[in-house]
Amino acid sequence: MKRLYNFGAGPAALPLPVLEEIQRDLVTHPELGASVLEISHRSKWFEGVLAAAEYNLRTLLDIPQEYSVMFLQGGASLQFAMVPMNFLSRGGPGADYLVTGAWSEKALAEAQKFGPARAAWNGKSSGYVRTPSPHEPDYSANAAYVHYTSNETIHGVEFFEPPSSGEAPLVCDASSDFLSRPIDIERHALVYAGAQKNAGPAGVTIVIVRGDILDRVPGGLPALLDYGLMARERSHYNTPPVFAVYVMGLVSRWLLESIGGLAKMEEINRRKAQIVYEALDAASGLYRTHAEKACRSRMNITFRLPDEETEKTFLAEAKSRDMIELKGHRSVGGIRVSIYNAVPLEAVEAMAKFLREFAAGRAAKA
Ligand SMILES: Cc1ncc(COP(=O)(O)O)c(C=O)c1O
Repeated sequence: MKRLYNFGAGPAALPLPVLEEIQRDLVTHPELGASVLEISHRSKWFEGVLAAAEYNLRTLLDIPQEYSVMFLQGGASLQFAMVPMNFLSRGGPGADYLVTGAWSEKALAEAQKFGPARAAWNGKSSGYVRTPSPHEPDYSANAAYVHYTSNETIHGVEFFEPPSSGEAPLVCDASSDFLSRPIDIERHALVYAGAQKNAGPAGVTIVIVRGDILDRVPGGLPALLDYGLMARERSHYNTPPVFAVYVMGLVSRWLLESIGGLAKMEEINRRKAQIVYEALDAASGLYRTHAEKACRSRMNITFRLPDEETEKTFLAEAKSRDMIELKGHRSVGGIRVSIYNAVPLEAVEAMAKFLREFAAGRAAKA
């Protein structure tokens, strides 16, 4: 059966060579004589898988030794709670959040259950169309940490540089642009990302944390929610998501060996985004892009058509050209074209061609 062009926002397209390798080895992995789904998380094989996945991430992102890399469960949403549980206390200094879209709004609401957390900047009243410029956030004098979302998957707004948080530890939800380009890990105290966009399948969340900040973790947390314990146990306190880590290892190897690293990946992603935005801008009377130009996401391209009827027609015509998963998030509507690492240039070019032809068809009818 042919594979369609998948522009889904996550779980999302995976590199075809990775899928083929999984398929080949799923029933009987040559090193195991058993399926990767059937093997102990304490086996030598899985120890190797875990070590390789960590090594690949350290190499791709140039992660310094003083940072721990953890593979956790509960999705990025659990990190919304784990970050404040570990680094915020009721009587202590509060945390500052940059609220640039639906995901950072959720992260802030979750933090407020655990301690004082506030928006140092909030783009909601203008419809989440941009990130703040460096002087805009009103940071607290002594924040416990500053949290931001590097790419807002629903609104399609992206930071291309980490915000400057001053002395406060910087925490990033990088779920939807993780591994799409290099990140300066040293500017951050903690970076987390659900894997299911660029890094692998759903089920594993990557957390990269600087060692010194682990001293602040209070005692008495449930074991699985304690960064200190999970870092010491090297993602092995209990059964980790074996299959998801295995696939993430393959995806990170693909990035290193087939793509040639994150600088190369970024170049490709820039080009892909440019192709789609050019097609949208060429018919700006029909396509209303959501984000301001300087903050337009390279991963999730969001736009509206004049009315819902036209959007329905657009989606139906896209489907007839083998393009799927283009409906905007249910909370905002419109169209969202997600072009993560594994979406090939060919799919992006087909999308641009469709955008131009759909616009020409409309213009001819008008
Ligand atoms: C930026 C961002 N943060 C957090 C989440 C929540 O992730 P999860 O569903 O893994 O909990 C998502 C999900 O799409 C996301 O895009």
